[in-house]
Parts: sequence; C-alpha cells; structure tokens
Amino acid sequence: MEISIKLGSVRTLKAACIAVPIFSGRRLSPTAQSIDKASRGALSRVIKRGDIIGNQGEVLMLPDVAGIAAERVLLVGCGKQQEGLSGQEYLTVLNKTAKTLCDAGLKNVTSALLEVTVRERDSCWKARQTALAFSAASYRFDKMKSKPSRKALLGRLTLLAERADQAAVAIGIRLGKGIGDGVVLTRDLANLPGNHCTPTHLAITAVELAQRMSNLKATVLNEADMQKLGMGSLLSVAHGSRQPPKLITLEYQGGPRHIKPVVLVGKGVTFDSGGISLKPGAAMDEMKFDMAGAACVFGVLQAVAALALPINVVGVVPATENMPDGNATKPGDVVTSMSGQTIEILNTDAEGRLILCDALTYSARFDPEVIIDIATLTGACVIALGSHASGLLGNDDALAEALLSAGQRAGDRAWRLPLWEDYQKQLESPFADMANIGGREAGTITAACFLARFTKAYRWAHLDIAGTAWTGGKTKGATGRPVPLLMEYLLERCPTSWVA
Ligand code: BES
Ligand code: MN
Ligand code: ZN
Repeated sequence: MEISIKLGSVRTLKAACIAVPIFSGRRLSPTAQSIDKASRGALSRVIKRGDIIGNQGEVLMLPDVAGIAAERVLLVGCGKQQEGLSGQEYLTVLNKTAKTLCDAGLKNVTSALLEVTVRERDSCWKARQTALAFSAASYRFDKMKSKPSRKALLGRLTLLAERADQAAVAIGIRLGKGIGDGVVLTRDLANLPGNHCTPTHLAITAVELAQRMSNLKATVLNEADMQKLGMGSLLSVAHGSRQPPKLITLEYQGGPRHIKPVVLVGKGVTFDSGGISLKPGAAMDEMKFDMAGAACVFGVLQAVAALALPINVVGVVPATENMPDGNATKPGDVVTSMSGQTIEILNTDAEGRLILCDALTYSARFDPEVIIDIATLTGACVIALGSHASGLLGNDDALAEALLSAGQRAGDRAWRLPLWEDYQKQLESPFADMANIGGREAGTITAACFLARFTKAYRWAHLDIAGTAWTGGKTKGATGRPVPLLMEYLLERCPTSWVA
C-alpha cells in the first residue's frame, strides 16, 4: 500500500472514495463543507433527511457526488465536534472507516480524517494511526488457498493535510508503515498453521529476516546446544514432539554499544496440544496461535530495524511444539531448569512457563536494561480481561507504568494485575523447588509468579496476550497485538532529538 500526502483543493482530487468527517448536530468538517459547496448542497441534503446525522460510529457511502473528481464520498460520523475525540474514540472511527473502504474493494482512497480534533494527540499520531488502521483493514491471509481471492486490495491511500502539518504527517506515515509491516509479519506467522509453522520454520524466518535487514543478526541454538546450557525445563516440553526445538535470537544494534538493550522474549509454542495433559478437542486448532508471542517479537524487531531506531533491542524466542508421545514428559516428572531450580511438572499443559523460564535465565547474558516477555500464557487471562486488554505483571513499577501508558497511546491496551508474594505459596511442591501450576485461583498471577522466580536479577515485565493475540469465531485470525504497544514503548525510549 502506497501512502501519500495531499495539500490543497479537494475538488480536483482523483480517488475511488474520499472519507470526510461530519459531527453530531449535522455539522460539517471543513473538507465536508467544500464538497458540499462544490456539489451545491448534496451533503447537507442527505444529512437534513436524517440518513446520517454525525454521531460516532455512523458511516454512509454516497456515490457520484457532483462537482468533485472523487467517485464516492464516505461520510464518517465523529460525534461532538467541540469536545474533540479521545484517542480511543478516534481509533474506533478510523478502524470503521478503513474497514468500510477496504471491504468495498476500493483501490485508491483518500482520508480527510486528520482534520478531526483529538485530545492530547497531534497530527503525527493521527497520521501514524491512519496508516496502521488501513494496513490492518486491508490485511488478508490467503497463502494457504489454492486460488487467492480476486477482490482488489487497497493500493493507494492519500491523506489530506494542512501545509503546516506536512512534516509531522510525513513522519507519522513512516512510523505507521514500519509498524504496520511489523504487524503484518506477526499476523502472517501466527496465522500460519502448525504443520507449516514449526520451530524450524520460525528459525528459518529469523535467519531470512536477518539476511533481509543488514542491521539484524540471527542466532539459532539447537537441542544439543540447549542441553549444554542446562535448559532441562525447555527441553522437557520438546520431548513429546517429532519437531526439533530451537532457541532463536535476533539482535539489533541501533544505538551505541554501551547502551543496554531491551530484551523481548516471546513464547513460541508452534502447537499446544497440552501434551500428556491433553486439551479437550473444542477449538484446539486455535493452539496454532500459541506462538503469537514469538511472532510479536519478530514483528517488533523487523519494525525496529526498518525504522532504524537509535536503541538496542534483542529478541529471544524459545520455539517448540507441545505434543503427547511415548517420550513426552509425564505429570509428576521433575526437571532441572537452567537456573538450577527444580520443577515438578504437575500439568504438561502449563508448558509456556517451562520454556520461558529457561529463555529468561538465558536472556540475562545480554546485560539487559529491561526484559519483557510476551506470551499466550493462560486461559485465565481471557476470563479476567477478555479480548480488550493484555495482562501485565512485573517486578518494576516504572517499567509497568511505561508499558501501560504506551498501550494507552497505541490503542493496544494492557491492564496490570498484582504480583504479590502472597500468591507464591500456591506454587509450593513437596518434591521439587516449585510446581508448574498453582491451582484454580488466580491462574494468570500464579503463572507470572512462576516466571518471577527466574527474573530476580533484572527489571522485568510479563505480557499475557492469551486474550488479545487472536480473535476466534467467524473472523478468526491473528491480531498482531501487542506489536503497537511495544513499538510505542520503544519509540518513547528514543532520544527526543531523533526523528523517523
Ligand atoms: N497456551 C495455553 C494458554 C491459552 C489457553 C491461551 C486458551 C489462549 C487460550 C497455555 O499453555 C495453557 O494451556 N495454560 C493452561 C495452564 C493451566 C494448565 C495451569 C490454562 O490456561 O488452562
Ligand atoms: Mn498449554
Ligand atoms: Zn500454551
């Protein structure tokens, strides 16, 4: 998708459709007013009739509006003009607009939505979010179909802007494209079925990514390497699978060497059957998404490298299948993690924490500023927060606050849960240093409590994305979350003198 900026007159602008804001009480935005004038009142007449009145969430497509070169006009209800919109409200309006235009199969569209006032947000942010919304709405996953869909994909998006905003809008577009392409990579990888997206496939993807982007370096450890490092916990999950596990590292250096990196650790279970503690059959196919954390790490590293951020970032991905087999780990088995701590595996379906704990111990070697892990870790998180917020836990308040506010700004929100010592008791085991499950209560918290036992040496946060990484039902598919949250966090770490 090409994105460009257009200054000046809307009348001569050629497009399949131009989206223009209108507001509650039948008010027209400046662009809507010029189209209304050029068409001798075509918009006012429709609005007066009450077909659309400007409330938030309304859209109405008008074909053949006289007096302008664009073939259609999409009226977009934006609510109260005076108050302006909150960032979140603006995103809802943008996504609806993008989806309407993309679903209509239009190839070349223009948006005048930059002229909507958004509280505490500038035009750079609006442009970035517009690029992201249209990139997301025009996303399609049809690699696995023998005949790809013939419906047109959006090819060109034009943003109507004021001259004074031009530079900021251009930066916003660059950021939106870089992040949007990262989101696409994340969605593509997560949507890919388990028989294609194996640990080996993830490793190859990392190596190819590093070949494509000269500022990225990929390293892949195999089973023997992990054995030498003493990763008994990670390897215990892989024992039940025919697919060899991989520990994948992507290193990006965009800042001076002495600047400590942000390390992102992504859960890469390419299929989670539950292992010997086999899952029930319903919706088990969705466990191909259990590597969404890993996919997110790849998406972020691609975006960071494409935008050449002036910081250092490392991605670490423990990748394996979780399968039942004669050689699989059994409930009651005790394994020794890389940290030396022993774990009684009471449920082989609590495998995410078993691979993450070794990856987290390993990650200390990068001398991190902070470590953030991203994992589809617990069904309990879906029960607690649904699909609107990722779960956030961690051992550092400043880091947690920074991630919460990044999520807020990015429209990719997280919500913090407590990580109190009181919950640690639930993990006690008579046979080992800890059990890998903590009972029915507070499942998301006890999972994080388990990880906390391996992250004492550094500032750490954990994002449980079980509810946010994909949608089920008719529109089943990966969302690409929380790439926008993490990119916002990383962008805020860049020196203010830096511009995209
Ligand atoms: N990958 C699942 C978590 C999951 C479940 C994500 C459903 C999204 C939807 C994880 O490996 C798992 O199976 N967790 C168990 C832990 C339990 C055995 C303590 C769970 O949540 O049921
Ligand atoms: Mn599981
Ligand atoms: Zn899992």
